[in-house]
Amino acid sequence: MNMIFLGAPGAGKGTQAEVVCKELNIPAISTGNMLREAVKNGTAAGLAAKEYMDRGDLVPDEVVIGILKDRIAMDDAKNGFILDGFPRTVPQAEALEKMGVRIDKVIEIDVPDEAITKRMSGRRVCEGCGNSYHIEFKPTKVEGVCDACGAKVVQRADDKPETVLARLATYHEKTAPLKDFYQSKGKLVTVSGQNGIEETSRLTLAAIKG
Ligand code: AP5
Repeated sequence: MNMIFLGAPGAGKGTQAEVVCKELNIPAISTGNMLREAVKNGTAAGLAAKEYMDRGDLVPDEVVIGILKDRIAMDDAKNGFILDGFPRTVPQAEALEKMGVRIDKVIEIDVPDEAITKRMSGRRVCEGCGNSYHIEFKPTKVEGVCDACGAKVVQRADDKPETVLARLATYHEKTAPLKDFYQSKGKLVTVSGQNGIEETSRLTLAAIKG
């Protein structure tokens, strides 16, 4: 099954992608994670992306489409995948169609903006492996230390309140129109992401299997 997880920054796309990819044994492909890795490694794509990410804007379509195209061509994506954070614009969705990629379902995780701004201040990510936590809703076993690899967990640079507001504005302007795009194709299913991580996983899996 090929799926897209759609939703505002911090709605829980990455958290649910981690749960669902284990359940269905398919990879979760996060363009955000790939771009952060590219920035860390100082690649050409990373250098092109950094200034946009720092100000909460979208990275230009041609940069992201190139990265995504290479990733979904890999062997582990042959039996299906979850796209977390792609497409983010109508031209990106059209590029997927032009690549001949069939999308079976688009799961929108719906969380109101007020809840997002509160949630983002508590997110922490691992400097080593990128695992994501929350100081209240998904704490590490040892404070400040990643459960998976033991590296330090820190606040993401773009989770500062002012950048979160910019990312939310970008989402409403450029990404929310994708809801209509996929609704008109009969692919969109909306689940509430407001009720805790486990309940959201239950709703997400039900929407995928339903
Ligand atoms: P990206 O990394 O994709 O960021 P995002 O969409 O803003 O999504 P997040 O990772 O912030 O949130 P999420 O929905 O995955 O939430 P999470 O599960 O972590 O993109 C970053 C940047 O890269 C973009 O701004 C852009 O510049 C660039 N970019 C990426 N893709 C691009 C593209 N296609 N085109 C152009 N540019 C692109 O959860 C958040 C927190 O909440 C965590 O702490 C979690 O533990 C907690 N949480 C999750 N669910 C719940 C729940 N139900 N209840 C309570 N807490 C919860």
